[in-house]
Amino acid sequence: MQTHEIRKRFLDHFVNAGHTEVPSASVILDDPNLLFVNAGMVQFVPFFLGQRTPPWDRATSVQKCIRTPDIDEVGITTRHNTFFQMAGNFSFGDYFKAGAIELAWTLLTNPVGQGGYGFDPERLWATVYLDDDEAAALWQDIAGLPPDRIQRRGMADNYWSMGIPGPCGPSSEIYYDRGPEYGIEGGPEANEDRYIEIWNLVFMQNERGEGTSKDDFEILGPLPRKNIDTGMGVERVACLLQGVDNVYETDLLRPAIDLMAARAPRGYSQGNHGDDVRYRIIADHSRTAAIIISDGVSPGNEGRGYVLRRLLRRIIRAAKLLGVDDPVMADLMTVVRDAMGPSYPELVGDFDRIQRIAVAEETAFNRTLASGSRLFDDAARATKASGTDVLSGTDAFTLHDTYGFPIELTLEMAAEADLRVDEEGFRGLMAEQRRRAKADAAARKQAHADLSAYRDLVDAGPTQFTGFDELSTEARILGIFVDGKRVPVVAHEPGTSESRVEFILDRTPFYAESGGQIADEGSIGGTGASETARAAVTDVQKIAKTLWAHRVTVESGEFVEGDTIVAAVDPRWRHGATQGHSGTHMVHAALRQVLGPNAVQAGSLNRPGYLRFDFNWQGALTDDQRTQIEEVTNEAVEADFEVHSFITDLERAKAMGAMALFGEAYPDEVRVVEIGGPFSLELCGGTHVRNSAQIGPVTILGESSVGSGVRRVEAYVGLDSFRHLAKERALMAGLASTLKVPSDEVPGRVANLVERLRAAEKELDRLRMANARAAAANAAAGAEEIGKVRVVAQRMAGGMSAGDLRSLVGDVRGKLGSGPAVVALLAEGDDDAVPYVVAVNPAAQDLGLRADELVKQLGAALNGRGGGKADLAQGSGKGAAGIDAALAAIRAEIARR
Ligand code: ALA
Repeated sequence: MQTHEIRKRFLDHFVNAGHTEVPSASVILDDPNLLFVNAGMVQFVPFFLGQRTPPWDRATSVQKCIRTPDIDEVGITTRHNTFFQMAGNFSFGDYFKAGAIELAWTLLTNPVGQGGYGFDPERLWATVYLDDDEAAALWQDIAGLPPDRIQRRGMADNYWSMGIPGPCGPSSEIYYDRGPEYGIEGGPEANEDRYIEIWNLVFMQNERGEGTSKDDFEILGPLPRKNIDTGMGVERVACLLQGVDNVYETDLLRPAIDLMAARAPRGYSQGNHGDDVRYRIIADHSRTAAIIISDGVSPGNEGRGYVLRRLLRRIIRAAKLLGVDDPVMADLMTVVRDAMGPSYPELVGDFDRIQRIAVAEETAFNRTLASGSRLFDDAARATKASGTDVLSGTDAFTLHDTYGFPIELTLEMAAEADLRVDEEGFRGLMAEQRRRAKADAAARKQAHADLSAYRDLVDAGPTQFTGFDELSTEARILGIFVDGKRVPVVAHEPGTSESRVEFILDRTPFYAESGGQIADEGSIGGTGASETARAAVTDVQKIAKTLWAHRVTVESGEFVEGDTIVAAVDPRWRHGATQGHSGTHMVHAALRQVLGPNAVQAGSLNRPGYLRFDFNWQGALTDDQRTQIEEVTNEAVEADFEVHSFITDLERAKAMGAMALFGEAYPDEVRVVEIGGPFSLELCGGTHVRNSAQIGPVTILGESSVGSGVRRVEAYVGLDSFRHLAKERALMAGLASTLKVPSDEVPGRVANLVERLRAAEKELDRLRMANARAAAANAAAGAEEIGKVRVVAQRMAGGMSAGDLRSLVGDVRGKLGSGPAVVALLAEGDDDAVPYVVAVNPAAQDLGLRADELVKQLGAALNGRGGGKADLAQGSGKGAAGIDAALAAIRAEIARR
């Protein structure tokens, strides 16, 4: 049975049983704690937690999932995918254990002719949580499973959570016995390769807090309702129904293996286990990479971008180890598109961009591999020269960190060069790096708000936003929070200016930060009895997407829950905000007009007077492109286009060509903002000017890189744009007056000055060298004889650096002839530092004198440190007062020879 058919049967089965089919969410959802969506239930978390009321009691979906913690297992076991499709059914307070077990069992065991998967019931096993007698009994009653095919397992296996705070509960897993040729008997407890997990039923009933592992976290308490969350592994079911050995050989993955096998010198499944693993890695990772790129991620050095980069690099490396040196990425992406396209049309529609990003990373990594290999060769040579056969952990770490060499690659290259690698040292450095990364992540988690305090208000319904039509609205205070705790009253406290107070209102004209537009500022004032109460609104954020939380500083009087107040946005602020946001749409449209449709939005931020816009693009913009973008933008402003907004459904909006942001989950009803008809059409909930001329001038400040393949333009708009230009004009006028030339001659004048400055610096250098040479001649003339050795031991004029001393010492030594000679020069440097350099010629070395030892004598007298070799050594100490003693010490040392 083909994978597409497996998906279809799943959805049909549950739709027939009263479930609403919900499309897969993007693999990126807006949760700072979750790198990628890793289960079907992630998009439903607010429903389980009771933060939002689900529109249906039953839902079903096939969710795109990414799991990379087990990346090292890929290709080695028969069942680990970094991308897989999780088919799930969900009950939000509706049916519970019995319903979930029955629905799963019938789909698995119903004959193929009747819409089921036709699994042999005799081969199915179930596991339940240790004390879940209820589930164990249901498996016997409903499915007729004998007790010896129901195993009880602990928290790590049968208590499911997302790995982060959120909903959780005991689970029951369904396994299929592949038969004795896959391993020993004894059920899933004994062998998970023979007994392969296909479906996990989670009885979602508790909320978990922080924790350290799968079986160590705090249970905060029960969820408001008992729910069902299940996940069936589509790839695993496909593997079983297609009678293949492992998930990589199923219909959607196998084509990538075949593509590579046609190119590599050694084929697939020819008895070389290492090669087979590489083929499977390529098939698995290509698909994952395409999906991640399609959902808006570009390769980078941290977070999601790093995961993507690692996947792409592992593909390239695996291909090289298979003996394929030519580029592979373009064709792999094509294979993924063809296999996955029927279920994921976005891979087809967006194919050019996906392929371009993957190929760009391949090209860059191939360059890196070339320079990394050079570094490896140097390091290997140096290692051998130093008489050991162990490449240092530092070298392996540099190869990994700077050149992206996975340690296995370094190990293999080392083995070819008859070297070993200090893996322990490498792992130490990696652990160090991870510790730093973890500390960063922990700092980010602090920002995760505890939403439970707001749950009542979320349930009571969304805040009504009036701000498209008016700037001042009479409203009621529904809730007051101080430091996240609900309080009935809040009063002005003299001496505090911090905003620790939040108001939830029934309606508000304040725009809450979203879609790149920052929140409105303004004030909230009391009415009637509380007329003297006043608060400044400093920020507005949405809670659970529906509730506007106004962060305020109470400036006078007191506010009581239930009060009627007037919420008023500062009109000047709002005017600036609309200019910023409309300006962003204009720049976006201009960018696409100039650069083409590949310049895809990656993010934006706007506030009064300023905007920035990030987009996917390889390489810097040329000056010409920048000028054109600015010109197109300002022409569109000048054209005074009308700005319209309207509500429509998502499909229609997309059909009109409205631009949406990757990775955003949009509702079915969306707002579209249109400026100048086809010029700019975007899905957007923000506030805008009425006519484009109200935006005022737009000045692009600059364009820069913000990570691999993502560029950023920044611009001023409106009066800020004018002020910026005025400032530049004043700057120019100042320069012209200092240089005493008219403005348009400033560039020529500056170029001329720079040229003269360079000539003067050259002349200075020449004089310095001449001086130094004269000093060297003087010093040589003052040589003294100590025993058989000609010695110049001198204090040089102040201001000389160690570098100056070094070149001088060479000059002096050259002038002392071939008999034994020692030169020691010291200088009074800045900050009481005393740099010194010692040179010993070969004849003096024959007498047993060594520069590195003499330098130690100087160091002892000057509290300094230094080192070098027998012929030349240097160092630096402190305290010019010690110079004479140091010179005496070195003379005495020479006299001893
Ligand atoms: N959420 C459950 C899982 O991912 C079904 O296994």
